[in-house]
Amino acid sequence: MIKCDISLARKFIDESTYLQSRKKADKAFDQLKHKTGPGSEWLGWRDMLAKPNDAEIEQISELGEEIRQKADVFIVCGIGGSYLGAKAVIDALSAHFDQNGPEILYAGHHMGGKYLEQLLAHLRQPKEDGTPKSIYVNVISKSGSTLETALSFRMLRALLDDLYGEDSSDHIICTTGAEGGLLNKMIEAKGYRKFIVPDDVGGRFSVLTPVGLIPIAVAGIDIRTLFYGAVSAFNKYEENAVEVLEYAALRNAIHESGKTIDVFATFEPELASIGGWIQQLLGESEGKEGKGIFPTVATFSTDLHSLGQFIQQGQRSLMETFIIVDKPFSKLSVNEIEGDDDKLNYLSGKSFHEINTKAREGTIEAHSEGDVPIVRVHMESLNAENIGQLIYFFELLTGIFVYSLNVNPFNQPGVEDYKKAMYRLLGKH
Ligand code: PA5
Repeated sequence: MIKCDISLARKFIDESTYLQSRKKADKAFDQLKHKTGPGSEWLGWRDMLAKPNDAEIEQISELGEEIRQKADVFIVCGIGGSYLGAKAVIDALSAHFDQNGPEILYAGHHMGGKYLEQLLAHLRQPKEDGTPKSIYVNVISKSGSTLETALSFRMLRALLDDLYGEDSSDHIICTTGAEGGLLNKMIEAKGYRKFIVPDDVGGRFSVLTPVGLIPIAVAGIDIRTLFYGAVSAFNKYEENAVEVLEYAALRNAIHESGKTIDVFATFEPELASIGGWIQQLLGESEGKEGKGIFPTVATFSTDLHSLGQFIQQGQRSLMETFIIVDKPFSKLSVNEIEGDDDKLNYLSGKSFHEINTKAREGTIEAHSEGDVPIVRVHMESLNAENIGQLIYFFELLTGIFVYSLNVNPFNQPGVEDYKKAMYRLLGKH
């Protein structure tokens, strides 16, 4: 189970402030449990863990297997909550280089022309034997009308029509709201396969619905184990959520102390996209009404050589949350060389996990001495079950913390403003 240690951050908060924040966290959890807070119609991400839909998990596992057999390339076409969760889990649990199963690529998450142009060219490139690639597209949009996603989907559909003619519909899987939206009209007209984003689950809380589960299954990850990891965290925290409540209380007290940035840091490059998912989950939930701690992501050691200076000695406006994996998931150790010309033989025989762990401990010590409040979130090992637990841990933290700020965690009214301005400039009518 996830362990959360706030001890290094507590020294920055006096006892009475912490206790007041702790009361707010308890009240916030109560609001979530009893659906009495603002946005309580969006709590389906909790309900679905209380009553898992095993038939849907099975259906998605089978679809994932089918696509793994048939596809050379699988495109995840979505933006924000419609792709960040899938990418987070896939990056955390897939091999870096040896590809087993289809190549997984992303589209619809921006409107950079060069990327899309080159993606389309890559997809058009035949295989070595001269036959067209087998390409499957999963378009994911709850509203069915997000411009970034819809535009990429338009271009991808044209490519599939060109390559596969009448059979192109078989290569498209749509994940969208139950009703309404332009995507649903296309599904009706073309007969695309459809999976539903439940009405009561917002995009950034949707990784364990078909939104995230289809791409994750296509990547060959055991979605049942992932889902039931989250279920086990849900059951545990319904009984006793002290670690989540303490973290939420601490974050609330840090917010009140005027700190404005939370750096989600990891020493495991595999977890960088988990950081991206947490960034959206918290950022879009808490950043309203002039409130919130800006969530950002750092991958160490890489970013110790870019952001490390600021974190150590810059404006004291930040806290850090480290996402840690305790058990090694690589056996690589340092070789010994004759002559020791690079003077690294003192590390010979040590595993990279051990060295990376010392780098992390040293960094935490230095940043803590540099007056950065630090939270440590531990997973025992890197596997689907623990990632499932981590997902629910951060979803629950988000709900509790944001309610403790007296903010509705589940809407995103500010996102519309750029859209209005963009559509006006584009001449949409
Ligand atoms: O978390 C959210 O609700 C958002 O990030 C959405 O997922 C994002 O805006 C994409 O919306 P849609 O799925 O409607 O295309």
